[in-house]
Parts: sequence; structure tokens; C-alpha cells
Amino acid sequence: MKKIQIINGPNLNLLGTREPSVYGNQTFEAYYQSLKLLFPDVQLDYFQSNTEGAIIDKIQETGFTYDGIVLNGGAYTHTSIAIADAIRSITVPVIEVHISNVFKREDYRHHSFLSEACKGCIVGFGMDSYRLAIDSILHF
Ligand code: DQA
Repeated sequence: MKKIQIINGPNLNLLGTREPSVYGNQTFEAYYQSLKLLFPDVQLDYFQSNTEGAIIDKIQETGFTYDGIVLNGGAYTHTSIAIADAIRSITVPVIEVHISNVFKREDYRHHSFLSEACKGCIVGFGMDSYRLAIDSILHF
């Protein structure tokens, strides 16, 4: 069975109530249940943290044994060389995802420290960005 780790960064625990005009009304927990139904033959694990070090720990923990990591770094995307280095340090492909189209938003969201270290990026498809990322891992 393929194993995929989903990692959500800061403030993504508040999906459903956080800026619904940008991120929608669905909680990630509800979306995660529907994802598991879509991929019954995949072991999908989910981790969220508001802390940079905990995200790095999870990347290191899963980054040598899983088939892929789907990472929404939240605002750390735009600031974290440490997370980018963690991605470069592992062997498992990482797909960067964003719910919103960051390129339509403030200038400071246009740069990602993570993209260069990732296999690919999926941006702006709402929650469906995660499903597209999983599909891309399964079709490598
Ligand atoms: C986000 C975009 C980031 O700029 C923002 O800081 C987030 C969410 C997204 O999924 O659209 O927290 O990663």
C-alpha cells in the first residue's frame, strides 16, 4: 500500500472558520475524511502544526520511507529556509500545495522558499489542490 503524508502548517487548523472568502467553509478534518474515501488503497496520514520545528521533524520522520509528502507550509512557505533545507535533505518527493492562488494575492506571497526544493507545486484549486497533489504522487 502506498503511503502519503499530508502536512499542514500554521493557521491551517482553522480552515472552515479562517477567512472563508479566501479558504472556504470546510474544515480540513471533514475534507480529509472525503480524501480517504477517494483513495481507499492509499495510507493517507495527516499532520498539522503551527510550529516550524515540528513541521521539520515530521518531514524528516516520513521523508525516507513514504511514497510522497503533500505540504502546505502556510506562511512558512514565504519565510522558511529551514523547511526548504529539510525538503532537500530527504529522498521522498514533496509536492507544495496552496489552497488559494497566492499569485493573485499580496506580493509577499508570490515568493516561495519551498518551491525550488519540491518536485512540483499545485496552487489555487481550493481544497482540491490536495487531491491533485496526491494524484500526481500516484502517477509518478
Ligand atoms: C496558503 C497561502 C499562504 O500564503 C498563507 O500564509 C496560508 C495558506 C494557502 O493554502 O493558500 O496560510 O498556504
